[in-house]
Parts: sequence; structure tokens; C-alpha cells
Amino acid sequence: MSKNNIPNHVAIIMDGNGRWAKNKNMPRNFGHEEGLKTLSKITQKVFDAGVKSLTVYAFSSENWNRPKNEIKHLMALFEKAIESNFQYMVDNKIKFNLLGNIKKFPLTLQKKIKNLEEITKKNRVYNFYLAANYGSKEELVFAAETLRNSTSKITEKSFKNVFYNPHLPDVDLLIRTGGETRLSNFLLWQSAYAEIYFTKVLWPDFKAIHLNKALKFFSGKIRKFGKIY
Ligand code: FPP
Repeated sequence: MSKNNIPNHVAIIMDGNGRWAKNKNMPRNFGHEEGLKTLSKITQKVFDAGVKSLTVYAFSSENWNRPKNEIKHLMALFEKAIESNFQYMVDNKIKFNLLGNIKKFPLTLQKKIKNLEEITKKNRVYNFYLAANYGSKEELVFAAETLRNSTSKITEKSFKNVFYNPHLPDVDLLIRTGGETRLSNFLLWQSAYAEIYFTKVLWPDFKAIHLNKALKFFSGKIRKFGKIY
């Protein structure tokens, strides 16, 4: 029986940007900008800790219901995020992967995403997955639809192979900031055995000290995957 010290795959639901801004009498978009700064810092800390894959929930398929102005701002912020982290990903040999359907995104953003995916595609050690216009139920329906006319037997493996990204590993540690305790249609299949860490800290306030608490929570878990020891 061994304790896993460092999770291989960390996934984060970055919640609380809006409330963080509201607490400061600032517009919600200001909270997203601060959220992006937090994301850049935390990404570095996550990989420094030895984690190999990081997935962040940047935009859910339900987020289209937000005010137009907020959606427009988020799209601009995604472009900015790609531009400002481009060199970091290249220099640190991080493979950038998009998770979701980006056909509804502005064309300039789609091009930047594809370009970064192309340039970093040979990187093997670290993976950054940006879940954007992602919804887990949609992904499962997409997989079922893809396999519907296939003659091969449906197995867990063949099912996973037709997910948005078949290489995405199962989640070991799922962190949700902002105080809510739900999964919000994020990586439902992939989190089947994830350790889930909820914190009330709002995403823009999430610092290395909070990440370390989450990693400590994980390192104290004995993962039985349904077996008895
Ligand atoms: C949830 O907070 C956050 C989002 C829907 C957007 C996440 C975006 C960022 C962290 C910034 C940019 C990220 C990238 C990858 C460029 P919320 O708005 O639901 O906050 P609330 O629950 O307090 O209203």
C-alpha cells in the first residue's frame, strides 16, 4: 500500500472571479483579468511541483449564457493568455492542448490556439489542457455518437479513444476554488477516481500556499480504486 505523493494530473475549476471583483466594487471582467494572472503563476507552481498534466476549466459550454460583454471579454482574455504564455510553453517544453469545441470562438482566437498546439505538439513531458467550450456530457454524447456505427466492441478503452483528447489522463487531484462543492459538468468520466479538494478561496486569491494545501491533502490519501487493502 503506497501513498501517492505527487498527482500526475491536476484539474482545476477556477471559480470565484466575479465575486472577487464584486467584493472590491469592480466589474466582473476585472476579476477575470486577475484570474488570468493567478493562472499564470499557479501553472508554473503546478509543474514545478512535479505534476505532469494540468487541465483548467476556462469556459464551459454553459458559459455562453453569460452577458455578451463578459463573453467578449473572456475571448479577448484567452487570446491575451495565449500570447503572453506562448514563450513559456515553448521554453518549458509544455504541450498545449485544447479540450472542447472551439468552432464558435472568434477566428483569430481559433488560429492562435491551433498555432500553439502545432508548435508544442512534439513536447512529451508536460501537458497543459485548456478546457474551453467544454462540457463533459457533450463529450460523452460525442463519443457515443462516434462509436454508434462502428462494428468494433465498445470498451472503456475504445470509448475513451474517441473523447476530445484521447491522451488526457484520468484526473488524480481535482481542485475547485470559490466555495461551491459541485463538478459543473467538468471531466465527469476522467474524474471517476479523482481526489476532490474544495476550497472557499476565490480564484484570484489562490496562491502557492493554497496549492500546497491541496497537494498535501492529496499526499495524505490512500487510493484504493475500489479495492480492499
Ligand atoms: C469562473 O468564475 C471563471 C470563469 C468562467 C472563467 C475562468 C477564466 C479565467 C480564470 C481567466 C482567464 C483564463 C484563461 C485560461 C485565459 P465566475 O465568473 O463564475 O465567478 P463567480 O462564481 O464569482 O461569479
